[in-house]
Amino acid sequence: MANKQHGFFSHQTLEKNIGLMIIASILVVSFAGLVQIIPLFFQHSTTQAAPGIEPYSALRLMGRDVYIREGCVGCHSQQVRMLQAEVQRYGLYSEATESVYDHPFLWGSKRTGPDLARVGERYSDEWHRIHLRDPRLVVPESNMPSYPWLQHALLDGQNVQERMRALRKLGVPYADAQIQAAPQEIAGKTEEDALVAYLQGLGVGLRKARQAEAEQARQAAGQGAAAAQGN
Ligand code: HEC
Repeated sequence: MANKQHGFFSHQTLEKNIGLMIIASILVVSFAGLVQIIPLFFQHSTTQAAPGIEPYSALRLMGRDVYIREGCVGCHSQQVRMLQAEVQRYGLYSEATESVYDHPFLWGSKRTGPDLARVGERYSDEWHRIHLRDPRLVVPESNMPSYPWLQHALLDGQNVQERMRALRKLGVPYADAQIQAAPQEIAGKTEEDALVAYLQGLGVGLRKARQAEAEQARQAAGQGAAAAQGN
């Protein structure tokens, strides 16, 4: 048995030749990866915006960039997982179609602080301003850093149009008029204004669209029941 000849295309050839084994493993894993990943580029459930998801306004876009620059994503995730505890704490679980206009997406993986995917409209603008300037004024045990300089930093709006054009190249449907109006929209605003606007919109579009859908379904069911009673 031990001396039995085996052909080149056998498991033994692979197992006895580590270089070949590595190359074969890379090929198999790459192929399997492509089979899983490529279809995602063509599925509506990953490429089309969820109801209620609009491209960011100029002000929110600048706020998102402040969020990226300040490294908020290092402590805050923006993805509610499909778990009972998460949904009860934060709200609707996150869907891929919510992030189609996010380049790059900010799902994050570290939660020193709470998830922010649904934080929009949970607090007032004023709460956010105080919290950003000194988190301990509203949450005494907080270990979040203070960002007091944001209220004094005026947005440098010079390249907001370039940012929007770059995003348009990536598939975000900004209209010419929106890009034209962008500098006026952010004129005189601070980085804090922009960041608060960004935070206050997180999760709001999807939640309102889902509520409207549920309301419609309730009305349709109500009409159905009324019709059934009439018969
Ligand atoms: C070192 C980690 C850390 C960083 C960096 C950080 N945070 Fe926080 N954040 C926390 C912690 C911890 C909490 C919970 C306590 C509190 O509310 O302050 C929190 C709470 C929050 C909340 C309230 C969430 C809720 O549901 O109550 C918001 C909004 C927030 N952070 C925004 C930001 C933004 C915007 C940035 C970047 C400018 C940022 N955080 C950076 C740790 C961090």
